[in-house]
Amino acid sequence: MKRLKMGLIGAGGIAENRHIPAYHALSEQVEITAVQDVNLVRAKEVAEKYAIPNVFEDYLELLNHVDAVTICTPNKFHETIAVAALNQGVHVLCEKPMAMNADEGKRMLEAAEANNKRLMIGYHYRFVDSVMLAKESMPEVGTPIVTRVQALRQRKVPGWGVFINKDLQGGGSLIDWGCHLLDTALWLVAPSKPTEVNAQTYQCLSKQPDQVNEWGSYDHEALDVDDHVSAYIRFDNGSTLLFECSWAANIKADKTHISIAGENGGVNVFPYEFYQPKYQRMMETKTKTTGDQEEAALLQAKNFIDACFGKDTLKSNPKDALLVTKVIDAIYESSEKGKSIFID
Ligand SMILES: NC(=O)c1ccc[n+]([C@@H]2O[C@H](COP(=O)([O-])OP(=O)(O)OC[C@H]3O[C@@H](n4cnc5c(N)ncnc54)[C@H](O)[C@@H]3O)[C@@H](O)[C@H]2O)c1
Repeated sequence: MKRLKMGLIGAGGIAENRHIPAYHALSEQVEITAVQDVNLVRAKEVAEKYAIPNVFEDYLELLNHVDAVTICTPNKFHETIAVAALNQGVHVLCEKPMAMNADEGKRMLEAAEANNKRLMIGYHYRFVDSVMLAKESMPEVGTPIVTRVQALRQRKVPGWGVFINKDLQGGGSLIDWGCHLLDTALWLVAPSKPTEVNAQTYQCLSKQPDQVNEWGSYDHEALDVDDHVSAYIRFDNGSTLLFECSWAANIKADKTHISIAGENGGVNVFPYEFYQPKYQRMMETKTKTTGDQEEAALLQAKNFIDACFGKDTLKSNPKDALLVTKVIDAIYESSEKGKSIFID
């Protein structure tokens, strides 16, 4: 069977720890044939360690030798690389977030459609077992009333890479971490569509030196991104979503939470629990789920490869990712202007 020739663009942490293991596990369907990174030493190191036969200095050159690419660069470069790849007839799995903003995301979507190529954004939470179960439960939940989303980390500002640099990432805790749960929640409550956002972002840690931080140290003066965000989001059917995220909160412990209270039932996602009235009382259904992220990454890679071969449709499609980006844009704009922002 023909294997998909995969190129890696950006050979940092997520490429090495998530995508390379997933493609190796799926080696009957995919082979990593090329790698590129602006840091050539890093690209060569990864190529040697994982027996990747070709290293390119220029990603445009790499595009001539592959069927698909996985983009693992800082967010600023997602759009340019993805559009170039799609225009060259190369399928794209791009790490999250889709782009720095919705204008860029829209151009990526248009390039995918114009060239009839697959574009997937790495929102791998959709493939986590408890999330998939929650999605299956949505018909029984009924129309959502209130959705609660909390992506909260206690003192975990990434001390590596460029995550605190707004110019390269477009934002902080929201665009980096909150985007995952926002994507998951919007997917679960679809077809309800977000129409209005009122939000506040905070940037408190940059003012305070010597912060307690579990994920290494960072330059508090250079940090110019959000570290806390809260938002109130209205939907076209009158339902609402209460959103909170932080990667540096003064809280008891990290919290990854999504729950949807609907007209007929309610679901909690991490861990999976389902609540429903029956026999004149509230019933609670639980089951064992692992919440395994690497298993999710494997399913994501498989879905992408199958979609490239025309055997499946993308579970995480670029239209949904663009909607997430529009909501992120609206959160930042609402905070800046101190008023609600409407989403078309
Ligand atoms: N899905 C997830 O849960 C998840 C987790 C972590 C990171 N990410 C995303 O993955 C991307 C990369 O994050 P990371 O943690 O691997 O960062 P990283 O800093 O570990 O690696 C980034 C790599 O990109 C290279 N690079 C920078 N600019 C480049 C360019 N223009 N062209 C080619 N290579 C370039 C760097 O030299 C570096 O090796 C980001 O978009 C991030 O949001 C996703």
